[in-house]
Amino acid sequence: MNVLGIAGSPRRGGNTDLLLAEVMRGAAISGAVTKNIILNDLNISYCQHCDACFDLGKCKIGDDMQMVYRELENADRIILASPIQFMGLTAQLKTMIDRSQSLWVKKYMLKIAPLGNNKIRKGFFISVGGRKISGLFDSALVTVKTFFRVLDIAYAGDLLFPGIDEKGAITKYQDALPQAFIIGKKLTEN
Ligand SMILES: Cc1cc2nc3c(=O)[nH]c(=O)nc-3n(C[C@H](O)[C@H](O)[C@H](O)COP(=O)(O)O)c2cc1C
Repeated sequence: MNVLGIAGSPRRGGNTDLLLAEVMRGAAISGAVTKNIILNDLNISYCQHCDACFDLGKCKIGDDMQMVYRELENADRIILASPIQFMGLTAQLKTMIDRSQSLWVKKYMLKIAPLGNNKIRKGFFISVGGRKISGLFDSALVTVKTFFRVLDIAYAGDLLFPGIDEKGAITKYQDALPQAFIIGKKLTEN
């Protein structure tokens, strides 16, 4: 089983990175092949809405997103991690999601399985936000669930922590990292 972790935070070693690392560790201990993508280190342009993908469902922009498409196809489990920024996903993750418009075209216009239909894929979302307010994760959840639905990735759940701001604050939630580790193990079980 291939487990792909996609880190959307600009802060290396930050709260979502720590949670993601534990999910991936849990998956690896269960025998999964794990791979991490750090979006902030990649060169991924914005979707230009050029509609070039209408023909074949392929994006014409020759940047690091081409590698991400391949990794999404290879993956059985996809873990997205992003802190809340201005009540939504980070620009890094949103940019990657927008570039999946070519996969939307594949599915809804060309009637082709967006990632190929050789796998049953599941997706999981990790997020934290500095504030403790109702609706903190609503916008991010709508976008992430839409992304997974368009790509035929079944939503397997989320791990969301409000009131986590400074780097490493997630370790103050005693159960957070152990919970993430168990989720990584469980995600590879079925
Ligand atoms: C540009 C920016 C915007 C942010 N916007 C919000 C916000 O709207 N709501 C919130 O609760 N926290 C917000 N935060 C705080 C982060 O969500 C918080 O610091 C989080 O712990 C960062 O996670 P990370 O360490 O994984 O990057 C923002 C932080 C930054 C840098």
